[in-house]
Amino acid sequence: MRPACVLVGLMGAGKTTVGTALAQRLGVEFRDTDHDVEAVAGKPVSEIFIDDGEDHFRALERAAVATALETFDGVLALGGGAILADETRARLAGHTVVFLSVDLTDAVKRVGLGAGRPLLAINPRATLRHLMSQRAPLYREVATHVVVTDGREPTEITDEILALLTR
Ligand code: S3P
Repeated sequence: MRPACVLVGLMGAGKTTVGTALAQRLGVEFRDTDHDVEAVAGKPVSEIFIDDGEDHFRALERAAVATALETFDGVLALGGGAILADETRARLAGHTVVFLSVDLTDAVKRVGLGAGRPLLAINPRATLRHLMSQRAPLYREVATHVVVTDGREPTEITDEILALLTR
């Protein structure tokens, strides 16, 4: 079993919004590795960061991604930092992976003040800029398709992904 599509990209790229719409159009389930991690830990991502630290969160995230890639056949969104793990990038080989790219202005607008996103608790704009430059090459490395989301409506983005998947 494998996901119909895996979505990667920075916080604010629209993975949840687009992923939910895409799953509906494909008639499959949507799943998000942040929720899987929260279910295992029994608390929200922000509390895992505070109580247990980012390294612990990343370990739970690596395990959640590994399980979902083997056992889930819907649309899977990975947390924005999941691709930092070499192990996860290696696991993504052979999967259909869509990188939702977003520019800084749109990402900042979409995340607002970063509520629920511990990495954005301080200076979201500068942090997103830094994460974007650090991670863009990694998103591109794992992606089989790159879809630009800037200034576009979720429906338009979903249509583009559907066309890519059925090509
Ligand atoms: C993170 C992104 C978040 C979540 C955590 C860390 C990151 O997921 O996994 O707050 O490192 O970019 P979303 O990309 O779904 O917001």
